[in-house]
Amino acid sequence: MVHDVMRDGPILITGATGQLGMALAAQATMPHRAVGRPDFDFDSPETIARCVAETAPSLVINAAAWTAVDAAEQNVAAAYRANRDGPAQLARLCRDSGIPLIHVSTDYVFDGEKGAPYLESDPVAPLGVYGASKEAGERAVIESGADAIILRTAWVFSARGKNFARTMINASRKTNNLRVVGDQRGTPTAAEDLAAAILAIVGAIRSQGWRPEYRGIFHATNTGDTTWHGFAEVIFDIAAKCGAARPTVTAITTAEWPTPVKRPADSRLDGGKLAAIFGLRLPDWHDATTRIVTAMLEADAHT
Ligand SMILES: NC(=O)c1ccc[n+]([C@@H]2O[C@H](COP(=O)([O-])OP(=O)(O)OC[C@H]3O[C@@H](n4cnc5c(N)ncnc54)[C@H](OP(=O)(O)O)[C@@H]3O)[C@@H](O)[C@H]2O)c1
Repeated sequence: MVHDVMRDGPILITGATGQLGMALAAQATMPHRAVGRPDFDFDSPETIARCVAETAPSLVINAAAWTAVDAAEQNVAAAYRANRDGPAQLARLCRDSGIPLIHVSTDYVFDGEKGAPYLESDPVAPLGVYGASKEAGERAVIESGADAIILRTAWVFSARGKNFARTMINASRKTNNLRVVGDQRGTPTAAEDLAAAILAIVGAIRSQGWRPEYRGIFHATNTGDTTWHGFAEVIFDIAAKCGAARPTVTAITTAEWPTPVKRPADSRLDGGKLAAIFGLRLPDWHDATTRIVTAMLEADAHT
């Protein structure tokens, strides 16, 4: 189906205050409207309908989500409202308006036991409420019948916002000896690189129209992989080059750092489908980390 409306209305970006939402709004060159709470709040379904009606978008990018993995265990209903029910409503509105939806999901839909990078077709097995609510959201979006692209990403970080790199930099200002989990493998993904990929997809839809092969799930992370410990080492190598003190980082096991929710041991995602259908490969995570940590420290120096 070709979406003629693609040439008209703005892009609606949700989750404007989040890492991905901020990156999308900063990079979008086409007309767009970025919305956040309270104007767009999955806890108030009437705000969703109102935003879509007021904006009359040509495409929606949903970057809003409940992302607090451990806190989701105590806030099950709210997590499902943000990660399943809200996206389902948004997808139905997109379907009814005949416009595409780009929705974002997570590597935490998997249990991490495969031992190799996950394909989109691999069975899901979330380990906690967050992963389960995101997986339910994927299904609800697909079942809506909307022309929806679901991008699963992982370990998102940016110069602004809450993320592992920020936690490491802050911790290194308080102590010079850190212990970081070294037996969980995945791919750090810069919000700005994911945003660039999403906007490239939007560009392809705007210029060439919707194609049936766009519908469904795609894996979209930076290239390469590491452990949280390996990620921390690279963060501190870059920070040291920027003049920050270099802490020592000791690798520990997951058992030595218990969390309310178990994380997947190996949630690497295979990006082959994104490359095959959209011609997109995100940059290497080292490159992303250099850019983000440098920008983070520069921003800190000016506050
Ligand atoms: N962060 C990661 O490591 C990670 C990993 C894998 C996948 N993802 C996925 O990537 C996407 C973007 O994540 P992110 O890192 O940009 O997240 P983030 O920085 O935590 O931002 C989440 C955004 O969602 C909004 N939000 C939360 N609850 C909401 C609700 N009930 N109604 C409306 N908006 C709500 C937040 O608004 P407030 O500022 O008002 O709270 C914020 O704008 C999400 O789909 C997430 O599941 C993230």
